[in-house]
Amino acid sequence: MKRTRPLAGALVVGSVLALAACGGSTSSPGGSAGSTGGGKNLEVFSWWTSGSESAALKQLIDAYKGASSGAKVTNGAVAGGGGGNAQAILQTRLQGNDAPDTWQTHPGDAIKQYVDAGYVTDLQSVYAKDGLTKVMPKALVNAESTNGKVYGVSTGAHRGNVLWFNKKLLKAAGVAEPRPGYTEDQFISDLAKLKAKGTTPLCVGAKDPFAAPQLFENTLLGTIGPDKWNQLVAGKLAWTSPEVKRAATTFARLLPYVDSDASATTWDQATKKLATGDCAFESMGDWAYGELTKDGVREGTDFGYVPHPGSNGSFVMVVDTFVVAKNAKHPDAARKWASVIASKAAQLAFNKDKGSTPVRTDVDVSSLPPYQRQAAKDFRSNTLVWSIAHGEATSPQFQQSFYDAVTQFMQSKDVNAFTQSLSSAGA
Ligand code: GAL
Repeated sequence: MKRTRPLAGALVVGSVLALAACGGSTSSPGGSAGSTGGGKNLEVFSWWTSGSESAALKQLIDAYKGASSGAKVTNGAVAGGGGGNAQAILQTRLQGNDAPDTWQTHPGDAIKQYVDAGYVTDLQSVYAKDGLTKVMPKALVNAESTNGKVYGVSTGAHRGNVLWFNKKLLKAAGVAEPRPGYTEDQFISDLAKLKAKGTTPLCVGAKDPFAAPQLFENTLLGTIGPDKWNQLVAGKLAWTSPEVKRAATTFARLLPYVDSDASATTWDQATKKLATGDCAFESMGDWAYGELTKDGVREGTDFGYVPHPGSNGSFVMVVDTFVVAKNAKHPDAARKWASVIASKAAQLAFNKDKGSTPVRTDVDVSSLPPYQRQAAKDFRSNTLVWSIAHGEATSPQFQQSFYDAVTQFMQSKDVNAFTQSLSSAGA
């Protein structure tokens, strides 16, 4: 059964309008819905509102303003990790012919939905002028292209499959720090030790609809590996196969250790809990690195990290990408934005705050902290896969079904019903 996508944010649509109002601050007027002309005014639409996300976005806005004298920017960010709320609002605006000049998305199926609907313009001229084809990874450019034309410019690549841990809590519970090669069985036994000590073992920011699906996604990759992952998203391995069932069973074994407040906690609040010693582990993309740093804790002393159990050597790419509206109110400004955010300096400044790795191959990452230098290395050497939870590997309709199925499974723990519903949704 194929579903019509009720938009990624449909689960939270009731709060969408209220959230729109409390989205990012307006750095200066101009460029918002209804304004015309003002060649340099620009509305930038994203879901970057957490502490580290807004700091990183500000780096891009500052770089743009610095390169474009007299430029004005409206920060149209809509709160809601993973973009569920933002994407729902964006769809309404696109259908109402009120597109922001430029908006955040991801490569693969995520960007394709906008290309196919004719909402975005190609950025061939920006790539040609700035020589981007030579410095952007080919696979990335391909994942942002349709019929030989590229439609997106990426700022950074996040690694989705990272397990973060609070060092002091592990030590207090007599749990050895995980190292690459850590297995799901070791993880579950460590979670049990932590629970026995009265420590919240695993925080999940399940108030954000992507967070629990991301925990399942990481468990899935750790169980089936990258080759079968690619077969699965290409429809060449069944969602009802024994491997996927094994991943679902493992995921169910993690659930008793999840923070009882998870459904009232956003991803960044969950990350803060890890920082303040209110939970021991979180499986989350490395935007958590930016957030932990912003929360004032340090890698090596306060927290550590390891690829999610079983997924050592694989890198789930969650790449942030901007597109330019076909009918942008400020088309020149939007193209200028695309060009500036692809510059070496903007990439470095942005990724430093964001926790991700610059996608340009010619950015010197030696000034980044150890985690990010390692992630940059892994991005160039690991087996790369696209994320399902962030809408890159599969269609928006499947992404929504994936969210729904995981939410339901967390209640039912019915492996057969879960894998059957994923199979019916069709990748
Ligand atoms: C992802 C995005 C990241 C981060 C995260 C949480 O989709 O790529 O940049 O913002 O959501 O909001």
